[in-house]
Amino acid sequence: MPLLSTVLLAATAVCQSTQGLSGLIERRIPAHVDSFQFHLANLSGHDAYRVSTPGNGTVIVEGNSISGMSQGLHRYLSDIVHVDIYWYIGSRLHLAPAVLPNISAPLTGSSLVPYRYHFNTVTFSYTTAFWTWEEWEDQLDWMALRGINLPLAWVGVEKIIYEVFQDIGLDEADILSYLSGPAFQAWNRLGNIQGSWDGQLPTTWIDAQFSLQKQIVSRMVELGMTPILPAFTGFVPRSFSSVIPGANVVNGSQWSGFPTEYTNVSFLEPSDSHFSEIQKSFITKQQAAYGNVSHIYTLDQFNENDPASGDEAYLRNITADTWQGLKSADSDAIWMMQGWLFYSNSAFWTDARISAYLSGVTVDTDMIILDLFSESEPQWQRTNSYYGKLWIWCQLHDYGGNMGIYGQILNVTENPVAALANSSSLVGFGLTMEGQEGNEVMYDLLLDQAWSEEPIDTEVYFHDWVTARYASNAIPESLYHAWELLRESAYNNTDLTSAAVSKSIYELQPGTTDLVNVTGHHPTTVNYDPAIMVQAWRSAYSAAETEPSLWHNPAYQYDLVDFTRQVVANAFIPLYNTVLDEWNSTTSDLNSSARLTNSSVSTLPALLSVVNKVLSTNEHFRLSTWTSSARSLALNSSQEGFYNYNARNQITLWGPTGQIHDYASKQWSGLVETFYKPRWEIFLNYLLDTSPRAYNPTALDDELLQFELAWQWEADGEQEERRDLWTVLAEVVEEWPSVFG
Ligand SMILES: *[C@@H]1O[C@H](CO)[C@@H](O)[C@H](O)[C@H]1NC(C)=O
Ligand SMILES: *[C@@H]1O[C@H](CO)[C@@H](O)[C@H](O)[C@H]1NC(C)=O
Ligand SMILES: *[C@@H]1O[C@H](CO)[C@@H](O)[C@H](O)[C@H]1NC(C)=O
Ligand SMILES: *[C@@H]1O[C@H](CO)[C@@H](O)[C@H](O)[C@H]1NC(C)=O
Ligand SMILES: *[C@@H]1O[C@H](CO)[C@@H](O)[C@H](O)[C@H]1NC(C)=O
Ligand SMILES: *[C@@H]1O[C@H](CO)[C@@H](O)[C@H](O)[C@H]1NC(C)=O
Ligand SMILES: *[C@@H]1O[C@H](CO)[C@@H](O)[C@H](O)[C@H]1NC(C)=O
Ligand SMILES: *[C@@H]1O[C@H](CO)[C@@H](O)[C@H](O)[C@H]1NC(C)=O
Ligand SMILES: *[C@@H]1O[C@H](CO)[C@@H](O)[C@H](O)[C@H]1NC(C)=O
Ligand SMILES: *[C@@H]1O[C@H](CO)[C@@H](O)[C@H](O)[C@H]1NC(C)=O
Ligand SMILES: *[C@@H]1O[C@H](CO)[C@@H](O)[C@H](O)[C@H]1NC(C)=O
Ligand SMILES: *[C@@H]1O[C@H](CO)[C@@H](O)[C@H](O)[C@H]1NC(C)=O
Repeated sequence: MPLLSTVLLAATAVCQSTQGLSGLIERRIPAHVDSFQFHLANLSGHDAYRVSTPGNGTVIVEGNSISGMSQGLHRYLSDIVHVDIYWYIGSRLHLAPAVLPNISAPLTGSSLVPYRYHFNTVTFSYTTAFWTWEEWEDQLDWMALRGINLPLAWVGVEKIIYEVFQDIGLDEADILSYLSGPAFQAWNRLGNIQGSWDGQLPTTWIDAQFSLQKQIVSRMVELGMTPILPAFTGFVPRSFSSVIPGANVVNGSQWSGFPTEYTNVSFLEPSDSHFSEIQKSFITKQQAAYGNVSHIYTLDQFNENDPASGDEAYLRNITADTWQGLKSADSDAIWMMQGWLFYSNSAFWTDARISAYLSGVTVDTDMIILDLFSESEPQWQRTNSYYGKLWIWCQLHDYGGNMGIYGQILNVTENPVAALANSSSLVGFGLTMEGQEGNEVMYDLLLDQAWSEEPIDTEVYFHDWVTARYASNAIPESLYHAWELLRESAYNNTDLTSAAVSKSIYELQPGTTDLVNVTGHHPTTVNYDPAIMVQAWRSAYSAAETEPSLWHNPAYQYDLVDFTRQVVANAFIPLYNTVLDEWNSTTSDLNSSARLTNSSVSTLPALLSVVNKVLSTNEHFRLSTWTSSARSLALNSSQEGFYNYNARNQITLWGPTGQIHDYASKQWSGLVETFYKPRWEIFLNYLLDTSPRAYNPTALDDELLQFELAWQWEADGEQEERRDLWTVLAEVVEEWPSVFG
């Protein structure tokens, strides 16, 4: 059997021009356009680099691929020059000195795996839904420098879908009633939902996103990445059968309690001859739009969506027919799928059914499975490495763009390396976060692990990471110490009953139960001593006493808000418990509501105002940043209202009436002040008026829902205070010694 990498390379449009890397330098370090030379070189390894400095101010970056060179460039910039590019903070590369440092010996390295993968299908809704080209450019440069060479590229697929359906005779109304709103397209693409509540996707949105995708795909290729493009999945509008009578269409399953109108998406059976025809039309249009740039396709049919039958022969036929359809449209096609279903619906997906389903693709190298949640719920062992299919070890880490400080440093370093030693069809490491929200060090760690045969020493790693992170400042020891405390606590979770980024209980709909100690994907547990978080916060805060210029460093500003946010989130829990205990105290009559005092009740909203004030100092922690980016894509006021609704609905009710309530909650100013705080006030007022015996959660939830429904349509009236972080922190630290003491 030829080496997997050889097989894969044949199916990958490898861009061999170094133009893209020169472009990156021009964008990010224009003062140094002439300082870097990029050369393709015959180095061994999947992707490999060699960086050297001849001593005349030039940096020579050699690599056997564009991705190898960009990784080498990153090592030089981050490890030697100590500048980098980060989520939210943006590029700090321009801080490189006028004379670039020499290195005494060349930097060399090579990747353990052919692929470094990025994105989850839903990241395109939770994080990038309202991005403009400028934000995409930052993201793509971030990805290139981190050696990512296999990213998903979902943007604008609705244009291809629209045209494909139009060609078979569906009209605009049929198609638009099938497509979902701007903040919910990921789940429409996955066949979980259809249509849009409270509005309709405008065709101008479809066209604008399509143009954006052309820019994205072409930049990805320039930067040495193979974009994974969409394909026809089989999901079709309900009216499909009226234009193709007799087509073999089944109703898909209901998703997350959505009303039938918005779910039970129609699915064209791959055994129907129209399936292959539509696939051909889809792929042809896509190639015409973006060029012959990739043969890897993302195609998920049963993500949280059950097949019409569990019969093994049926399941085998589904993949066999889908694969044949794909191959007849593109003979080099490789089918990539998210392996999430095998975990999320393991009751349906028994080993025998997974084996049957995967066996329909008889050429193992024609399929790549993303082992989507490898750090906590790996499926590759039980499926014996997906019965020989290619697969990628992925860190999911974050659900719904939730915002707790969290990581599994041990699992993310040791387990992928161990997996590689144990599985010959493992071809990549990757990131499948639902939302890119903070904790960036955890994502960097796995991507860098792809270039290190030994599990990375995280103590050294965090130290170096901090050095590049706060570039341009002298970095006081206390700032390193803060990160070290976090590495030993919040970033070292080994209690996998809480398997992902945590939420604060204040982001959840208030009630007397089910808030504290929630485990699973959206845990509210605090898996470390909360006093350590306060210590880390204090250590970071005190760094600016030593080095006041840190107050002007955007990385410091961001991180200090983030740490403060976590301290408050943790402090909210005991205060909530105290209120509950007082209300529920057994010392007095259970029919009386008088035991709760106004003063204990006022503490919780007051603490929420504190965190709101801190968050509002930084645009990356504001609701208005999200909603105004949504509104800025509107071409008229009705679109503006719809986009604003979409942005607000996704992070709160998630559905017309709260189908996945608070799933994608955020600790953002504006959201805390106008949504979470009023909900807590409703709850606390209810407790003041209600005895434990009379407590009626249904009545309370109804009252909360009325408030939440009205909030969806509110304009962004919140005039948030825009004050300096240091002023605000000085105030709140003085006012709340119990929290920050
Ligand atoms: C690259 O190097 C390998 C050995 O390291 C050698 O076998 C091969 O011929 C070289 N290829 C080219 C194009 O120089
Ligand atoms: C790099 O090395 C050269 C030759 O040794 C020396 O002239 C130059 O000053 C060095 N540059 C820096 C930034 O140290
Ligand atoms: C530095 O040296 C390299 C390699 O010898 C050469 O290609 C480059 O042009 C030189 N740069 C300058 C500014 O002289
Ligand atoms: C599919 O769902 C539609 C809409 O609810 C319904 O009219 C139709 O009868 C369903 N078809 C089947 C086969 O269940
Ligand atoms: C929707 O799916 C559920 C199963 O998830 C099923 O019970 C129901 O009959 C479906 N409805 C339609 C209209 O197909
Ligand atoms: C597209 O590229 C592949 C190689 O990556 C090649 O085999 C195929 O013929 C090309 N197709 C077209 C239509 O140019
Ligand atoms: C699977 O496909 C084969 C070949 O088309 C067909 O004979 C068989 O009936 C199908 N089985 C099921 C369960 O659909
Ligand atoms: C190695 O792989 C086998 C089969 O794929 C699996 O059963 C076993 O648990 C794996 N071992 C480790 C340490 O992951
Ligand atoms: C992380 O936790 C494990 C298990 O408790 C422990 O053995 C290890 O020393 C911890 N690592 C750090 C950096 O604290
Ligand atoms: C890593 O995750 C696996 C589950 O996937 C678990 O069994 C193991 O204990 C974890 N290891 C550490 C060090 O957290
Ligand atoms: C209130 O107290 C009763 C009796 O001690 C207990 O059963 C119940 O769980 C408590 N409820 C809450 C919300 O704490
Ligand atoms: C939550 O867990 C902590 C630590 O295990 C425990 O002390 C506390 O009683 C638990 N609280 C609730 C409400 O279950």
